[in-house]
Amino acid sequence: MKLGVCYYPEQWDRSMWLKDAQDMVRLGVKVVRIAEFAWSRMEPQPGQYDWAWLDDAVGILADQGLEIVLGTPTAAPPRWLLQAHPDMLARDAQGRERGFGSRRHYCFSSESYREACRVIVTEMARRYGQHPAVIAWQTDNEYGCHDTVISYSDSALRRFRLWLAKRYDNIENLNRRWGNVFWSMEYAAFDEIGLPVALPAQVNPIHALDFRRFASDEVCSFNRLQCDILREYSPGRDILHNFMGFFGEFNHHELSADLDVATWDNYPLGFTDMVRFIPEAERVQWMRSAHPDIAAFHHDLYRGMCKGRWWIMEQQSGPVNWASANPSPLPGMVRAWTWEAFAHGAEVVSYFRWRQVPYAQEQMHSGLHTSDGQIDQGGREAAIVAAEIDTLGDFGAHHAASVALVFDYNSKWMMDIQPHGEQFDYFGQVFAYYRALRRMGLDIDIVPPSADVSKYAMVVVPLLATLDDECVARWQASGAQIVMGPRTGSKTLDYALPTGLPPGPLRMALSIRVSRVESLRAGVSETVCLADGTPGYAKIWREFIDVAQGVEVLARFADGQPAVACQGAFSYHAAYFSDDVLDRLLADVAHAAGITIQALSGGLRLRRRGKLQFAVNYGPGLVSLPVAADRMVLGEAQLAPAGVAAWLAE
Ligand code: GAL
Repeated sequence: MKLGVCYYPEQWDRSMWLKDAQDMVRLGVKVVRIAEFAWSRMEPQPGQYDWAWLDDAVGILADQGLEIVLGTPTAAPPRWLLQAHPDMLARDAQGRERGFGSRRHYCFSSESYREACRVIVTEMARRYGQHPAVIAWQTDNEYGCHDTVISYSDSALRRFRLWLAKRYDNIENLNRRWGNVFWSMEYAAFDEIGLPVALPAQVNPIHALDFRRFASDEVCSFNRLQCDILREYSPGRDILHNFMGFFGEFNHHELSADLDVATWDNYPLGFTDMVRFIPEAERVQWMRSAHPDIAAFHHDLYRGMCKGRWWIMEQQSGPVNWASANPSPLPGMVRAWTWEAFAHGAEVVSYFRWRQVPYAQEQMHSGLHTSDGQIDQGGREAAIVAAEIDTLGDFGAHHAASVALVFDYNSKWMMDIQPHGEQFDYFGQVFAYYRALRRMGLDIDIVPPSADVSKYAMVVVPLLATLDDECVARWQASGAQIVMGPRTGSKTLDYALPTGLPPGPLRMALSIRVSRVESLRAGVSETVCLADGTPGYAKIWREFIDVAQGVEVLARFADGQPAVACQGAFSYHAAYFSDDVLDRLLADVAHAAGITIQALSGGLRLRRRGKLQFAVNYGPGLVSLPVAADRMVLGEAQLAPAGVAAWLAE
């Protein structure tokens, strides 16, 4: 467990660098990320490189014993590059080019931009690739931030057509699989196909989905281009990228196949404020401590990307500048968020940023220090964590989770394209299940649909739109209890209804037929009654299902129709349920799987790492922990708000 920090030497006078590096060491920082936005200083004129300043910065940090993560600067191309390659800009849905004057003003499909990136990454990797202090490379910065995955540029169109030709081989095949007989949408050649934008009526969903798949592949191949160069010139160094929160515009599982470590940027208060599926009351309730499950959800998601290796690349250290309101964290929360990440298995937690910068776009964004150089609340809390890491010593890094939750980017895109009701949100549904499991005190692994789930006792599939026989057979053979949310098995890979209706191939294991679905307006609910009479409700989404003989009905809607169907180890939820219903249903499945659960009250959350059980209190009141005082190794058994505790697990 190491602490890190994001540092921008190019934004500060050269005379400050040595003291900054020394202060980092004093604070307990071990890893420092630099350079990811400094292209205009590395290459001020086309082909004229100025490495002297970066040599100095790297040298100064290295001399203090700091380990360096170098960012490739491709998220911030300089102005002169645009002069040379006007085609590098992305184009938005209104046909407007994304201009210069901020960052990420490039199109993933621009071949001239790819070439420019190849050159700068090669130059940088050649110069620093063997430096002993350089331990890792970050490719670019937050792929897709500021809504930049999708581009409707000419380059994107050209490459999309090639992508389609490769996928479908001939145009008749595409016409058939897209269902283009509908509305006379048939094409005679791939060159006739346009981008799914600015059409009078709805886009054919498979046209839109293939464009999303294409756009995701573009991000992956753009990243691979950089990874290939870095591996050649900088062998033995980790390659990583910093992912974002609640962001699914490209397939992170696929992109991670080219990385050694998945990292993500954790801004818990910013997400609590911005995520649309959190009710307003909860936004206010958690405004200073953050919703207790948001960071954990991403820790579990990104831990599943690179065989368990993951970091926090940017950790919120005070108020941010980009949410609709930007409150100050409750004192203690920066420390608590750091421990939550370590408890989930993070190797490094790196704070954003060393010092608040007094100018430009992020002058209102805090760091570990204020812009006049004084240590701030976040810096003081980071120093406490550094001391605690030393005190705790080595207690192991892993702990096997008993529950797997399946996350699927393809399903996310399908639900974006055809939500069939404006309240419907893929992340919202997944997060509802995740939250319920966390409230039960469980450790959760978030896995892709292709995962081997045989080591888990319980597998939760909030929504997997496309299923195949192999997947269902794998789940059957796993011996786990399998719980599925609505819309699972609802589509084919070509974005059509499956033969014999949803849930498609799932019928191998569970004999139900979804004959009709409906979406519900905000504020509308449908009463649901569990088998033991416990009442609750469904919202946002409801299905009408026929159940065959041998299928047990565990809950019904008020009109008597089945709401939960179960056969053997498989159960299916025919609606988006309220929290109390979900808690109850998942608790019953956990019981059947032999998993012990705890009903956590308020803002208490648990996570085990190695020999230690960690607890974080996100709530406003004191919480009594279920542990004898002599087992405690960190914190108190009476856990205060924003408190962290750890004890030797049984
Ligand atoms: C991230 C980004 C950083 C910085 C930060 C501010 O999205 O990677 O460069 O802008 O947000 O919160």
